[in-house]
Amino acid sequence: MNADRIPEEFAEALAATAAERGVFGARLHYADEVGSTNDLAARAADRGAPEGTTFVAGAQTSGRGRLGRAWFSPPGAGLYISTIIRRASLAPWITLAGGVAVAEGIARATALPVQIKWPNDVVAVGGGGFRARRKIAGILAEASSSADGLQHIVVGMGINLKAAAFPPELADRAGAIETELGRAVDPGAVLAQVLVALNLTLGELWTAGPLPLVARWLALSPSAQGAPIEWDGGSGVTAGLAEDGALLARSANGLHRIISGEVRFV
Ligand code: BTN
Repeated sequence: MNADRIPEEFAEALAATAAERGVFGARLHYADEVGSTNDLAARAADRGAPEGTTFVAGAQTSGRGRLGRAWFSPPGAGLYISTIIRRASLAPWITLAGGVAVAEGIARATALPVQIKWPNDVVAVGGGGFRARRKIAGILAEASSSADGLQHIVVGMGINLKAAAFPPELADRAGAIETELGRAVDPGAVLAQVLVALNLTLGELWTAGPLPLVARWLALSPSAQGAPIEWDGGSGVTAGLAEDGALLARSANGLHRIISGEVRFV
């Protein structure tokens, strides 16, 4: 990792957004290929790196996603970003905040209409219903704690920019921004606007508490209200978000709180 080797294609957008990004990306490390940017950020945080220190890679050999899955991270196809958060009291909301920031950053940089699918899959709004929407980005927040309490949170964001030969198990669910738009996008603008949105979202969460974040998340997540779903052990219709970020679903047996696992739209 060498902070001086930030690709030329990122430089202009990063410079233009320096004030709006605040600490996010003020220290930015780039490498063409890494194992996982989340691991690099966690190691840097353990060594004392400040909030906002950000790692970006052009490819990952061990990118990981939610639920123990791999995150497909081939060269030249996506942005793989991890940033450090040190405000421990924000931890319960970081997953939702990351989803809102990535969705809003992509929308601002590219004008692609996007939505969030609980908990934080960012999907493109193409033709078809919730079931048909292709995932173009995902967020993996990982916290590190010790006997003294929470030390840091790493927010990892994987954004599919270009069409790639997705593995067969992803082929019918994964998409890419350029494929959805039918034109090229500026990767530097996407990176910069996601970091701007993260700075604004976390700033608002810090000063105003979670209610504005929950409102923004719900506005971006129409599938969280009234959509038929299946989850491990049940099926029903989505019924909004609980105070702690759990997805609510109603079935013949009553109201259910879904706190982890996979939700399938049916
Ligand atoms: C998901 O499963 O939806 C979350 C995917 C998160 C992928 C990103 S890419 C950058 C960072 N490094 C990783 O290894 N994972 C996250």
